[in-house]
Amino acid sequence: MTGGAGFIGSNFVHHLIRTTDTEVTVLDKLTYAASRESLADLPTDRVDLVVGDIVDGTLVDKLVSEHDAVVHFAAESHNDNSLTEPGPFIQTNIVGTFQILEACRRHDTRLHHISTDEVYGDLELDDPQRFTEATSYNPSSPYSAAKAGSDHLVRAWVRSFGVPATISNCSNNYGPWQHVEKFIPRQITNVIDGDRPKVYGTGANVRDWIHAEDHSSAVWLILQEGRIGETYLIGADGERNNLEVVGRILEHFGRGADDFDLVTDRAGHDLRYAIDSTKLRTELGWAPTFDRFEEGLARTIEWYQAHEQWWRPHKEATEAFYAAKGQ
Ligand code: NAD
Ligand code: DAU
Repeated sequence: MTGGAGFIGSNFVHHLIRTTDTEVTVLDKLTYAASRESLADLPTDRVDLVVGDIVDGTLVDKLVSEHDAVVHFAAESHNDNSLTEPGPFIQTNIVGTFQILEACRRHDTRLHHISTDEVYGDLELDDPQRFTEATSYNPSSPYSAAKAGSDHLVRAWVRSFGVPATISNCSNNYGPWQHVEKFIPRQITNVIDGDRPKVYGTGANVRDWIHAEDHSSAVWLILQEGRIGETYLIGADGERNNLEVVGRILEHFGRGADDFDLVTDRAGHDLRYAIDSTKLRTELGWAPTFDRFEEGLARTIEWYQAHEQWWRPHKEATEAFYAAKGQ
């Protein structure tokens, strides 16, 4: 698998080790977003970390030739970074995916490509429709456009070359091992530090939250039972606006409901994402275990309280990046 030292990738490795007897090789460049510590307590006879770049076609080819299947998580993943420096998003998300596809083509290796609901653009707050597998692509940011490009490459390699691949597009994940640049960990750790949460714009933007453990179970199921060439949307009916999420975090810590700042909005900020995961649920029988967002959020807050040594090294630089942009 690729990107296993990042947030969702490391949750997936923990899920595999706990629920299957699979052996995993993680190919990861260990960018600023990665953490070796996220994989630290796993059995070394089942998890092997190879530090390298998915853009390196020779390395990718060698590793793919030695494995039964590839799950491709590696990406530049943060919208705010894509607005300040889009170049790495093109390299990793598009060129890197191209290298994975070419290796899978040469070795006829099963591939599952991890993607995002952001490829579909955004919805109005009162739109009764949610994203489905039939929704047209309409990405807004350099990040989501690069992910959309990677999805199109996968579809083309399936159709043109018969690469045995599936794709999943998932909504916003939360849970342990998420970098403090992202919304929920940033606000939890701000409150732990006695600072005020920072909410972009008006805070009316809606995200459809899913616990990373539930994303992991869906990916494993699709890898086992998904139909080649198909796309599956993954979501847990977790729509909340950003003010509601911050309100929950403040309430958990016993802080006042107004104890946050509204800050400069994100350029091109998508208003709402919402996933209809009927296909995954009916065709493959998947269901989330964290079906109440508030309970999963409380567990996540407790995780950050108990793992300060994991997130602390990243906090200062992250806040300096945001402060320079008035966020
Ligand atoms: P992350 O930023 O936490 O982790 C990305 C990982 O990829 C890191 O370990 C990083 O070192 C690695 N990586 C980056 N560039 C690399 C390269 N060139 N070669 C090798 N490794 C490289 O990201 P995440 O939030 O865990 O997201 C993982 C995947 O899930 C991404 O493909 C993302 O688009 C997708 N996704 C994320 C979410 C979400 O809410 N975070 C939702 C849906 C889909
Ligand atoms: O929908 C799936 C996507 O979810 C993934 O593809 C991305 O990789 C992942 O980063 C995430 O993208 P978002 O841009 O939605 O996530 P982020 O955590 O950056 O922001 C969530 C919402 O919170 C969004 O409306 C912006 C807002 N926000 C974010 C930060 C960091 C704030 O209001 N304040 C903040 O400090």
